[in-house]
Amino acid sequence: MGLKRKDLLDVASLSAEDIHLILETADSFKEVSGREIKKVPALRGKTVVNLFFEPSTRTRTSFELAAKRLSADVINFSPSTSSIVKGETLLDTARNIESMQADIIVLRHPSPGAAETLARGVRSSVINAGDGCHEHPTQALLDLFTIRQRKAHLAGLCVVIVGDIAHSRVARSNIYALTKMGATVRVAAPPTMIPLYLDRLGVSVFFDLDRALEGADVVMMLRLQLERLGQAYLPSIREYARLYGLTAERMKRAKPDALVMHPGPLNRGVEIAPEVADSGAAVILDQVANGVAVRMGLMYLLSGG
Ligand code: CP
Repeated sequence: MGLKRKDLLDVASLSAEDIHLILETADSFKEVSGREIKKVPALRGKTVVNLFFEPSTRTRTSFELAAKRLSADVINFSPSTSSIVKGETLLDTARNIESMQADIIVLRHPSPGAAETLARGVRSSVINAGDGCHEHPTQALLDLFTIRQRKAHLAGLCVVIVGDIAHSRVARSNIYALTKMGATVRVAAPPTMIPLYLDRLGVSVFFDLDRALEGADVVMMLRLQLERLGQAYLPSIREYARLYGLTAERMKRAKPDALVMHPGPLNRGVEIAPEVADSGAAVILDQVANGVAVRMGLMYLLSGG
């Protein structure tokens, strides 16, 4: 069974079987990154274009490495040095790139829905690498891969997601993915950072982080998105760190073998204390490493498997 879709735009439209297939396929590519020659010919002759309208360290590099390890040709398109600065639209830009035989376009964009708009306008496969506050599906997939690697299963685990749920595409994609795979999800945040629709997604809401952490298997911290926040959401960064920052003392409330995750980049000393980020419980760099395998698996499946 393949992944019967042209694009990956969100987790909301994936089934549990789709997620399982992507994780299993990623598993089969994981060992490639450990080889001396880190290459397989699975996408030889294909072209992948990275189209990033927002800054990125992990996602852009990870897609580039994943495509190169599958032997695809990779173009890193920089909007700031392109004709976009002369007013060319996203769709016209993408159609021009597509006419040069791009097979996969990886898009990061500040507007929610940009990836879907693009996918409707081009024949190439489109992968959403984060669209505004909407979704970041490959981040959730690599998070699930990392949890499964450590805990062997996802069903029945208690995962606590902490931070700015309202502005976080990572939180939204993870809530969809984790609940579809049978995990219990708690979210902990100040009331101003909890969106109104959250009770429809089958998660429990906590305003008290200490209570939310009781018996947790996984604690997923979110970056405080200072670039998207107005002053209205927080009394102060210091107050936020005091109430919602993850410290070693707080981690004692979770299970002794609980994992600490963070999508990066870290605001050390704000949402996560340095001693927690650098502790044995943290799997933050595993998440980054697994991102390559997950993106290899996904691009392979979207190209026909
Ligand atoms: N996790 C993540 O999306 O990181 P980047 O913004 O560095 O890509």
